[in-house]
Amino acid sequence: MLSKPIQDALNKQVQMEAESSQAYLAMASWSEIQPGLQGVTDFFYQQSDEERSHMLKLIRFINERGGFALTPALEQPIVTFKSIKNVFDEFLKHELKVSSSINELVHLSLTEKDYATHNFLQWYVNEQMEEERVARTLTDKLQLVGDDKGGLYLFDRDIMNFRGAEGKKSQ
Ligand code: FEO
Repeated sequence: MLSKPIQDALNKQVQMEAESSQAYLAMASWSEIQPGLQGVTDFFYQQSDEERSHMLKLIRFINERGGFALTPALEQPIVTFKSIKNVFDEFLKHELKVSSSINELVHLSLTEKDYATHNFLQWYVNEQMEEERVARTLTDKLQLVGDDKGGLYLFDRDIMNFRGAEGKKSQ
């Protein structure tokens, strides 16, 4: 059975994963209407799907442990961006925020002595390490590319391969 503080904190995380999914959906949609960003577009559509799966995993866990997972209300995310670099900076910023929220949850699970939740959260700890690494690497690559259109072309062409080759889990 989940304690009230744990249930509330898990539901807050449900909201955050849903917001992530929406934020990346907006990034995919914006990228899709820019010329020549098919790779980036596909990347964010996929990223959005993954965040939804992170949300679902939490919902199922809360309900299976005797709690009640609340379907969150969502605000409209940022829908327009100054540049592709701006998109990836926001992506990294968002993932760092998610990581810090997961860390707080892990801490709470220990203070509440809820070891089942602590165990469940380890998947998210690993996932966040991977997501941060992907976001940071791609942001660094774009920093190198700067305003070089040829570089951006290659970045867009390689982004899905990068994900696959680097062993990004499709969760
Ligand atoms: Fe599920 Fe990328 O946070």
